[in-house]
Amino acid sequence: MSKETAAVTTAAPLLELRQVVKLFGGVHALEGIDLSVRPAEIVAVVGDNGAGKSTLMKIISGLQPADGGEIRFDGKTVELRRPVDSTALGIETVYQDLALCDNLDTVQNLFLGREETSSLLRGARLRRADMEHRAQETIRRLGAKIPSLRTPVGRLSGGQRQSIAVCRSTLSNPRLVLMDEPTAALGVEQSTGVLDLIRRLRTEHGCAIVLISHALRDVLEVADRIVVLRLGNKVAEFDNSDRTTSSDQLVAAITGISAP
Ligand SMILES: Nc1ncnc2c1ncn2[C@@H]1O[C@H](COP(=O)(O)OP(=O)(O)O)[C@@H](O)[C@H]1O
Ligand SMILES: [Mg+2]
Repeated sequence: MSKETAAVTTAAPLLELRQVVKLFGGVHALEGIDLSVRPAEIVAVVGDNGAGKSTLMKIISGLQPADGGEIRFDGKTVELRRPVDSTALGIETVYQDLALCDNLDTVQNLFLGREETSSLLRGARLRRADMEHRAQETIRRLGAKIPSLRTPVGRLSGGQRQSIAVCRSTLSNPRLVLMDEPTAALGVEQSTGVLDLIRRLRTEHGCAIVLISHALRDVLEVADRIVVLRLGNKVAEFDNSDRTTSSDQLVAAITGISAP
């Protein structure tokens, strides 16, 4: 490890991975990963292609079970075998491909798969009004900038679409939100908007966030702690609570080549 985290916070971890292993045939995608995420902490996971970032995320979201090790949530050992196992704990995932429906508007996308159910006596129009109200409330609280809630999201920008995906993840009041490359497809200005959203997710909702990203500048700006994976191993962990980690330090850890 190039720099042991000197995290002084004493909060018990919300999520804790101990020696988590994942194999694909003969490939060790993860070779025994320790990771802890405290309440309201933003932890970034970085690493080159093939480092194991997506595999780690899929294990936490329950998409792919781990082959070994222990996962604890709220101090208790948990089994994450299917996505419902994670959502039941309050873990939400914002996927890289966003999974929005282009032909539907913002309100419909926010509530996709979880349309507000109300009694049969209440008409569809009223449900729509309820959802619209809740959508507006969520978007306002997180400070997302969406021009019109009634525009099909296919006509919105990448940043706006990402914002909708982040807003959607908050509707279940999650305790931990996983994000896979939330700024990858975005320009600088749009990225700034999404980073603001991530910070507000923490301050407004008290959510812990695990952020997977290639965008080192974004990571350095927003993460309290940065975990570096290389070829399935955790090779470094930086305490970035004071935002003083340098990109040279990060690049050296990611590549294994020390800066000159
Ligand atoms: N479904 C799979 N089948 C076989 N090998 C896989 C599969 N998913 C990932 N891998 C392998 O696991 C390693 C880590 O991959 P991945 O987690 O996608 O890395 P990253 O997201 O950091 O680029 C790579 O060697 C990759 O080829
Ligand atoms: Mg990946």
